[in-house]
Amino acid sequence: MSLFSGKKILLGISGGIAAYKTPMLVRAFIKQGAEVRVIMTPSSKDFVTPLTLATVSQNPVYSSFIAEDQDNPLWNNHVEMALWADYMLIAPATSNTISSMAQARCTNLLLAAYLSSQCEVFVAPAMDLDMYAHPANQKNEATLTEHGVVVLPTEEGFLASGLQGKGRMQEPEDIVSFMENHISKNLPLNGKKVVLTAGPTYEAIDPVRFIGNNSSGKMGFELAKRAAALGAEVILISGPSALDVDHANITVLRVNTADQMFEVSKLHYTDAAIFIASAAVADFKPDTNATQKIKKETGFSQINLIPTPDILAHLGAVKEKQFLVGFALETENELENAQGKLERKNLDAIVLNSLNDANAGFGGDQNKITYLQPNTKPIAFELKTKAAVAVDVFDQILLAYEKTS
Ligand code: CTP
Repeated sequence: MSLFSGKKILLGISGGIAAYKTPMLVRAFIKQGAEVRVIMTPSSKDFVTPLTLATVSQNPVYSSFIAEDQDNPLWNNHVEMALWADYMLIAPATSNTISSMAQARCTNLLLAAYLSSQCEVFVAPAMDLDMYAHPANQKNEATLTEHGVVVLPTEEGFLASGLQGKGRMQEPEDIVSFMENHISKNLPLNGKKVVLTAGPTYEAIDPVRFIGNNSSGKMGFELAKRAAALGAEVILISGPSALDVDHANITVLRVNTADQMFEVSKLHYTDAAIFIASAAVADFKPDTNATQKIKKETGFSQINLIPTPDILAHLGAVKEKQFLVGFALETENELENAQGKLERKNLDAIVLNSLNDANAGFGGDQNKITYLQPNTKPIAFELKTKAAVAVDVFDQILLAYEKTS
C-alpha cells in the first residue's frame, strides 16, 4: 500500500509546455491509490486538454470561477475544492503563477484554491533557464518556501526554447517520489519501530485439536495500518487469522501459540518505540504434548491446563523506553479492572473494550473503546469502525508519546 493510497490530491496546472506531462502525473497518483481533482489556469488549456485530464482523473476539471455551459451558472467553489484536498500540487508552476502565489493575487480559480488551502502545498516550477534563475523568480520561490510551500527543485536538461540548462519540471514519477519522501520524512512515527500483537492464539490439545478464541485480529491489523500510515516500521505478530495486509512498511510474523508469540515479541521489543498488545492470548494451555491424535476409544474426560506466559506483564516488567499499550476485554467492573491491569502490568495506556457493548468487539468491523492512562481521566469514544478506532488510539498515543520522547 502506498502513502498516497486513499489520499485526495488537488492538482493545479498552469500554462507552460510541461503541462503536456500532467496526464501522466495524474495517472501516477491514481496508480498509487489516490483520488485526483484538477484545476487548470485558462492558459494551460493551450498545452493539454481538460477532456484528457477529466478522463484520466475520472473527475470534472475546473478552470473558471463560474461553471460553464449552464443556463443557470453556478459558482465553482474554490474553498470546497481546497479543503477537500489532503495535498495540493501545482505542476507545472510558471513564473507568473509562482509570483501570484507569493503575492496572494487571486486572478484565477487555481490561485483562489491555493489561497484557501489548508493542506500541504507542493510546487513544481517549470521555466526557461534565465527566467528560472531571475532574481525576481528566485525571490518569489523563497517567499513561497517561507509561507510553508514545498518548492521542488527543477531538473537540468533540454528546454522548450532549445536552450540547455536548469528549469525543467521534474518527470511525473520523480515528482511523486519527491512528494512521497518529503511527506514520509515528516510523519510523526518516521524512523520508529511499532510492534503489535494481534489475533487469537491456538493452544494444541493434540495435532488436530486446540483451545482458541473468536478473535479475528481486525483491531490489530487496523492498528498496524495506522502505524504504517504515520510512518512507522511495523512488526505485526499475528496469531492464526484469515487477514493479511499489503504494505511496504508492515512485516507480518505469523505464530500459533502464546509461547511462540512470547518469543517473537521479546525479540522485537528491545528496539520498539511503541508496543501494542491487542492479541487475545490464551491464558492457559493444555498440559499435554500428545504427538498423535487422541482417539475416541482412548477416552478424553479431562484436559489439565497450565498458564501461558503473560507476554504483556513480562514486557511491562522489563520496560525501558518503550511506550507500552495493552488491551482489556471486560464484562463487569470494566473501568476498575482495566485500571488494575494498567497498573499491574506497568503500562503507559490500556484500551478497554466491553463485551457489553452491542456491535462491538470480536469479529465485527466496529468497536467501542475507552482509553485509559495513568493519572488521567478515562476517555470514552463512540462506537466506530475499527479503522477509525485505530486513528483515535494513535492520536492518544502520539499525544503522550511526543511528550515523553
Ligand atoms: N496478554 C498477553 N499475554 C497473555 C494474556 C494477555 O500479552 N498471556 C495481553 C493481551 O494482549 C491484552 C492484555 O494482556 O493486551 C489483557 O489481557 P487479559 O486477558 O484481559 O488480562 P489478564 O491479565 O489475563 O486478566 P484477566 O484474565 O483477569 O482478565
